[in-house]
Amino acid sequence: MTTPIIRTLAELRAATHGWHMAGETIGVVPTMGALHDGHLSLVAAAKAACDRVIVTIFVNPKQFNQASDLDNYPRTEEEDARKLERFAVDAVYAPDVTQIYPDGFCTNVSVKGMTDVLCGAHRAGHFDGVATVVTKLFTQTSADKAFFGEKDFQQLMVVQRMALDLDIPIEVIGCPTIREEDGLAMSSRNLLLSDRARVKAPLLNDIMDEVVVQLGQGIAFSDLQAKAIARLEAAGFTEIDYFEVRSCAGLKLLDRPTEPARLFAAAWLAGVRLIDNIDVPETA
Ligand code: PAJ
Repeated sequence: MTTPIIRTLAELRAATHGWHMAGETIGVVPTMGALHDGHLSLVAAAKAACDRVIVTIFVNPKQFNQASDLDNYPRTEEEDARKLERFAVDAVYAPDVTQIYPDGFCTNVSVKGMTDVLCGAHRAGHFDGVATVVTKLFTQTSADKAFFGEKDFQQLMVVQRMALDLDIPIEVIGCPTIREEDGLAMSSRNLLLSDRARVKAPLLNDIMDEVVVQLGQGIAFSDLQAKAIARLEAAGFTEIDYFEVRSCAGLKLLDRPTEPARLFAAAWLAGVRLIDNIDVPETA
């Protein structure tokens, strides 16, 4: 089935009004396109949980802090629509920028505190851009449930907080990270890796897995962090933005996982920024 593509808010509202009137539940999967199996796992989760599913594709200029990053971001809309065919989603909402940020737009949604660390500390304004566009996508689609990947764990936390704080009646559901066979977390940015860099990229996840095993053996993170960073650098990662263990509740730095926690990493490889995070089992 070819996927209907909606370009305007008016068309979107016409569709969702009919669905709500019929008592149907709506799921939304917000994306920036260049769809891979990670995105498609969210679509499958939405299809299983909702009567109607909207996939949004919008490369959001407000969340990019470098113009070159925005320009280089992969755009593959036709292929994306083809990948969605087998899911029979009810609509792809791929709005023109004027539908999201009309002339005179001057509102900003800013989630404080939890955005000061990790990606928030390295990408000025990024999470304001995310929170603002996701607020718009939630209100425009009037969805009942939204599906986000744990791959972007901090983003998931920010969006859950924003929906709660702004009384948006939507359930924000986190879904597990989908990986390539060699362990690399799927990401649209992986398309930008050279063949040589692609071979090195899984080392990030390999080292993270090893560190988690060592944490489970009772070794403090402060005894593991410097060596892990040095190994990444020796392999050709040029800059490690962060390599840290933080609590799931509040993203507090931890030396030992005495509460639910994750190991978070962001590192640059051949000009591409890779991020990942994995669960750290709690120790007594
Ligand atoms: P994008 O990077 O396209 O990701 C869209 C959704 O797919 C996010 O919820 C992300 O966490 C999820 N995702 C990406 N890679 C994944 C993987 N390997 N496994 C599981 N889920 C994965 O995140 C954004 O777009 C934007 O910030 C957005 C929320 C759309 C706002 O513009």
